[in-house]
Amino acid sequence: MTKNDSLFSNDFLSTDFIMAAIQQFYQHRDADDSVSFNEIQKLFRSFTTDYHSIDLEKYIRHLNQNVLIHSTHLASPTFIGHMTSRLPNFIIQIAPLVVALNQNLIKTETSKGLTFQEKEVMAKMHHLIYDFSDEFYQKYIQDHSNSLGFFTSGGTISNVTAMYTALNASADCEGSRLKYWLQKGFADVVIIGSELLHYSFEKAADLLGLSFIKCSVNAQYQIDLNELNKLIERCHLENKKIIALIGVAGTTDFGSVDDLSALANIAKQENLHFHVDGAWGGAFILSSTYKNQLLKGIEKADTVTLDGHKQLMLPLGSGMIFFKQPELARQNMHHAPYAVRESSIDIGRFTIEGSRVANGLYLDTALTLLGQEGYEDILKHSLANAQYMANKIIASEEFELIFQPSMNILLYRYIPLQYRNKHLNEDDNKAINQANVLLQKTQKEKGRTFVSRTTRQTHLYPQQSLVLLRSVLFNPLTQTQHIDEVLQDQINIAKKLNLE
Ligand SMILES: Cc1ncc(COP(=O)(O)O)c(C=O)c1O
Repeated sequence: MTKNDSLFSNDFLSTDFIMAAIQQFYQHRDADDSVSFNEIQKLFRSFTTDYHSIDLEKYIRHLNQNVLIHSTHLASPTFIGHMTSRLPNFIIQIAPLVVALNQNLIKTETSKGLTFQEKEVMAKMHHLIYDFSDEFYQKYIQDHSNSLGFFTSGGTISNVTAMYTALNASADCEGSRLKYWLQKGFADVVIIGSELLHYSFEKAADLLGLSFIKCSVNAQYQIDLNELNKLIERCHLENKKIIALIGVAGTTDFGSVDDLSALANIAKQENLHFHVDGAWGGAFILSSTYKNQLLKGIEKADTVTLDGHKQLMLPLGSGMIFFKQPELARQNMHHAPYAVRESSIDIGRFTIEGSRVANGLYLDTALTLLGQEGYEDILKHSLANAQYMANKIIASEEFELIFQPSMNILLYRYIPLQYRNKHLNEDDNKAINQANVLLQKTQKEKGRTFVSRTTRQTHLYPQQSLVLLRSVLFNPLTQTQHIDEVLQDQINIAKKLNLE
């Protein structure tokens, strides 16, 4: 056997040292706080490939010393600034199955069992969103001419897929629908949603040749319905063809949810495709209580985006797109003579992506091992944490809460002593902005605790851009003492930086 043969032999090498490396990573609560980004960059400046081959164990030792030690401790309970989750242990345990089998869901020739399993798990999620009859799911669960939905590499591609579907469904013709509408005399083809929509819609508009019209938001950071009606009216006057209305269930910055029922009604009146981006907040469909409280109207959407690698705590690459009417997916059909043939039963006929990993297996595992009840407990814990942190901020002298969270994302800022308890003008807010940039950057570099940062106009100080600290609370390990620790860390850093 040659050396290369052994790399592909079925007698797997013992990989205890890999599990040890993972364990070591998880045991560290804080990221290394002594090394700056510049120093880490210096470690990765080699661009020649004249390596002497070493064995896996030595390579893992190299990774431990140079790479893993500088990896971000997303799993830490005080790392509460991002949407990338800690994975449940059973996901880490089952991951080698997905990697080792390496099934490619583009077509059944490269993925038999897992293709049908993805369809089954998508039907379960579709049922949670739309709650159609048993007969409906019996008809469509394994229907290969239509699709209830499929996995994508993330929320971005799901949103792009939704806009592609909306454009394709907007006209009953062959070829480019964009050209069709322009040739019909329309000045532009547009999609409309709130100014707080994720920037994936800008990418979708760019890719598809559409314009994205952004609508302002109300005091709850939901799309402003009066303004929306005016924008739609203006589009009619300016001869612009609207193809989709987009609602968001959990904005990236505020966690706010649009009035989905009202948007669905407007979409119906105007005969528009209605899409809901539930990449963040869509996870609440797993709880019937929260679904009714937070996501009313999601069931009226023609397409829905969910993101398994956010609140569902699945590995990265677990976006999902759902079609209320499975026939809608046919709008995106593509075939090739060497694969995904017209008469085939391949999911790859409907997807923008080609090769796709079997991430549906992770969702099926989580739904089976954690179950809806397990998810509901985690979501409840996250909402309680957000409320706890909001109350702490309101009660503190040092911080200002920007708005009462509707989900589990909080925006707030540090107010240096000299600006407390006074009316703040634009110059004051600029100075406070600088203090918050420095505070957040220092906290990030130090690595002990973490929240992220955004810049937004708010209803507290209209027309002024504020730098805001952003806390995303969904790690099941985060307890109230960790939230206290993050806020105390910020107060300590502010003191050290003389931001007082
Ligand atoms: C509301 C919303 N939609 C879409 C996305 C894009 O998701 P992904 O990063 O998986 O492409 C995000 C990511 O933060 C998001 O918050």
